[in-house]
Amino acid sequence: MISKINDADIEEIVKIESDLFGNSAWNKEQFLYEMNENPFSFIYVLKKNEIVKGYIDLWITYDTAQIANLGVAREEWRKGYATKLMQYAIGAAIHEQCENITLEVRVSNEKAISLYEKFGFIRINIRKHYYENGEDAYLMMKPIGGMTDDDITGN
Ligand SMILES: CC(C)(COP(=O)(O)OP(=O)(O)OC[C@H]1O[C@@H](n2cnc3c(N)ncnc32)[C@H](O)[C@@H]1OP(=O)(O)O)[C@@H](O)C(=O)NCCC(=O)NCCS
Repeated sequence: MISKINDADIEEIVKIESDLFGNSAWNKEQFLYEMNENPFSFIYVLKKNEIVKGYIDLWITYDTAQIANLGVAREEWRKGYATKLMQYAIGAAIHEQCENITLEVRVSNEKAISLYEKFGFIRINIRKHYYENGEDAYLMMKPIGGMTDDDITGN
């Protein structure tokens, strides 16, 4: 159900991304860059009946992991798909022996903040005017050093 991205998934992902993020959505070229050129990027895709429902982009740079993107198709919200993607990505970061995992989120994005807090992420900083519309970001972090799959929460 969750697997590494492949070429055939890109069109569906870009459609979901555009619906979710509007003007600030990543375009096809950005996903292709992440997929084929960014050596630190791992994109995982959640499918039901072969149809893409959500995706997560995890960057692993040595001992640090970062969630660079996460989206679930709007009509599929609140079915636990983001939870599954987060569990998968955190598991991957643990297997790579990362010490912590970070992310940035718009201060207004209550749904995502709630999701991340369920996983034990804490707000460690505010990045002022981080987004193109001037909105601030919370920098959130979760220590994962020494964790095993059994330690992943979120349910
Ligand atoms: C944020 C997002 C990924 C959540 O996806 P989802 O599949 O609906 O999430 P889940 O069903 O796994 O829900 C997990 C938790 O997320 C939070 N959450 C999800 N929807 C929520 C809502 N409408 N209101 C409040 N909290 C919400 C809750 O903590 C929820 O846990 P709960 O159901 O026990 O309350 C989805 O809303 C989305 O794609 N949003 C637009 C893109 C985005 O904001 N991405 C993150 C950028 S940093």
